[in-house]
Amino acid sequence: TKPVIVDKWNRPLRDLRISVTDQCNFRCVYCMPAEIFGPNFRFLHEEELLTLDEMVLVAEVFAELGVEKIRITGGEPLLRKGLPSFIERLTAIRGIRDIALTTNGVHLVKLARTLKAAGLQRVNVSLDALDDEVFKKMNGVGVGVQPILNGIVAAKEAGLMVKVNMVVKKGWNDSQILPMAQYFKEAGMTLRFIEFMDVGTSNAWDLSQVVTKKEIYETIRATHPLEPVEKAYFGEVASRYRYVGTTTEVGFISSVTESFCQSCTRARISANGTLYTCLFATEGVSLKQLLRQGADRTALKQLIIDTWNKRTDRYSDERTEQTAKMRKKIEMSYIGG
Ligand code: GTP
Ligand code: 5AD
Ligand code: SF4
Ligand code: SF4
Repeated sequence: TKPVIVDKWNRPLRDLRISVTDQCNFRCVYCMPAEIFGPNFRFLHEEELLTLDEMVLVAEVFAELGVEKIRITGGEPLLRKGLPSFIERLTAIRGIRDIALTTNGVHLVKLARTLKAAGLQRVNVSLDALDDEVFKKMNGVGVGVQPILNGIVAAKEAGLMVKVNMVVKKGWNDSQILPMAQYFKEAGMTLRFIEFMDVGTSNAWDLSQVVTKKEIYETIRATHPLEPVEKAYFGEVASRYRYVGTTTEVGFISSVTESFCQSCTRARISANGTLYTCLFATEGVSLKQLLRQGADRTALKQLIIDTWNKRTDRYSDERTEQTAKMRKKIEMSYIGG
């Protein structure tokens, strides 16, 4: 039987988010603003990334510790070479019952079928607007909406379960809340609205640029009546609603105004192999270093247990303007959201 590893607040270790690359083909304003992630930005070199073998080993050890759900993130995970074979190897790990991936969708038309064949079950696709001009400004590289919609269709046709993520930034894409809600209601797909968060130190976050869950909810509800849906599982990030008279859901991820740290069961591995116990962590523990010193499975496992047992993170519960702006947090592109 599996040991149950809990942290200082009695939260079990259940999910693992693995960032497989810090690179991205987008420069979203809230994540990798082009002014900072410019042509001279130094991304990780190949040898600084965990290898596929190392990532599989890490995932196996986490599975032995009770993790059942793995989410692949980035940067943009579809840019990582060898991803399908990585997914195939994850599906072979005993105890892993849910494998998902978060992507900007650009490469889904090309890759959806291969990913599905490799054993991927779900994708969350980020899309911040339906209007081309708004979307181009949000993603910072001038990609239009159609390629992403095509990617979403390709993923569905390949048999993947698809949810759509929209980060709302005030003055940038709040005009798109209703059009997006309407579009995905009609498409019968789950759309989740995400409050703009103070991840990292590059995105010039300010509370005045957050559109709150309550505001978004009220905007939608005025024309599309909503009813609450029970959480699917302990630790679910989104609060869920259903459009009355349909089976279509809409969700809200309100890390800023309604935090959900009490049920946070997520560990994160950054692209360079560091274990973080919170999205807003300032420091982590290098699993890569340990592995490359020739440590064995047992040592790796013990380090993870010790790290989780010591965990006290509840950043969103405690967030203040001060911590949001001054704290030296890890960039989203390393830690994977
Ligand atoms: P599902 O398994 O489909 O529910 O995925 P998810 O919502 O957990 O993952 P996804 O990668 O789609 O993330 C959606 C948003 O939730 C992103 O903005 C993440 O940064 C945010 N998010 C995910 N986990 C956490 C968390 O533990 N804390 C905070 N503050 N935000 C999180
Ligand atoms: N605030 C909220 N969500 C963010 N994401 C990236 N940066 C931020 C931020 N600052 C979202 C992406 C993607 C998910 C992994 O995280 O849009 O959907
Ligand atoms: Fe890339 Fe996703 Fe960050 Fe946008 S949010 S820059 S798509 S990693
Ligand atoms: Fe978990 Fe940290 Fe997010 Fe709270 S802020 S839910 S502890 S990752």
